[in-house]
Amino acid sequence: MSDLQLNKILGAGLATGLVILGLGQLTGILFESEPPEKPGYAIAVVEDTGGGGEVADTPPDWGTVLPTADIAAGQAISAKCAGCHTFTQGGANGTGPNLFGVVGRKPGSHGGFAYSAPMTDFGAKNPVWDYDRLYLFLKAPGKDVSGTKMTFVGLKKPEERIAMIAYLHSLGSTLPIPAPKPAAAAPAAAAPAAAGTAAGAASATPGTPGAPAATPSATAAPAPVKK
Ligand code: HEC
Repeated sequence: MSDLQLNKILGAGLATGLVILGLGQLTGILFESEPPEKPGYAIAVVEDTGGGGEVADTPPDWGTVLPTADIAAGQAISAKCAGCHTFTQGGANGTGPNLFGVVGRKPGSHGGFAYSAPMTDFGAKNPVWDYDRLYLFLKAPGKDVSGTKMTFVGLKKPEERIAMIAYLHSLGSTLPIPAPKPAAAAPAAAAPAAAGTAAGAASATPGTPGAPAATPSATAAPAPVKK
């Protein structure tokens, strides 16, 4: 009888010990899983800068890239934002604010949306979402506006951001497309025909290899697009 009781007591003690061990391991697993998450984020950010090339990811010349940017591609990319944002005029705020007309809007100013303090502060320092600011923000929102509520990793590829911004610009933007910068427009005394040159460049180059006038502007125009 007392042997049986002893066995019970020992058994209970053993079971308790096992449970404690198990909990300890479980806790260890839970705690261990936390650190890898942060490096995961950091690595993604590092990849971002790598993806943009070793060269500093400076915004493109908007007057050159926007007229020929792929708005449809931008609309396709907006599927990544659609879980949090609407893009239609008068569309509802969700996890994020409605984005119709965001180009030219003051950051953190859309009616009825509770922005984070960092975004409101950002708006106090930056009066409008212009192309450059959107380009930098969309690359890594949490890096550009530290503490933002926008928990989106960002669009690492410059061409993705350009297409996205072109799409946003097509939605009630209050900012005009600027004139191409003098540096980019320099080879073109053809500045007035800039749009035509850019559009025709692709077909003109293979078609007329002998035309020397078209070649300098054709090579000069795509260069800033790739950067
Ligand atoms: C996980 C949800 C989420 C996703 C996905 C997301 N956003 Fe956001 N976005 C937010 C939130 C939340 C804010 C408000 C940020 C704040 O107040 O700090 C915001 C703010 C913004 C703003 C500033 C708006 C303003 O009125 O100042 C822009 C621009 C923006 N997002 C663009 C995008 C684009 C473009 C995408 C897709 C490529 C995207 N967001 C994806 C949640 C998201």
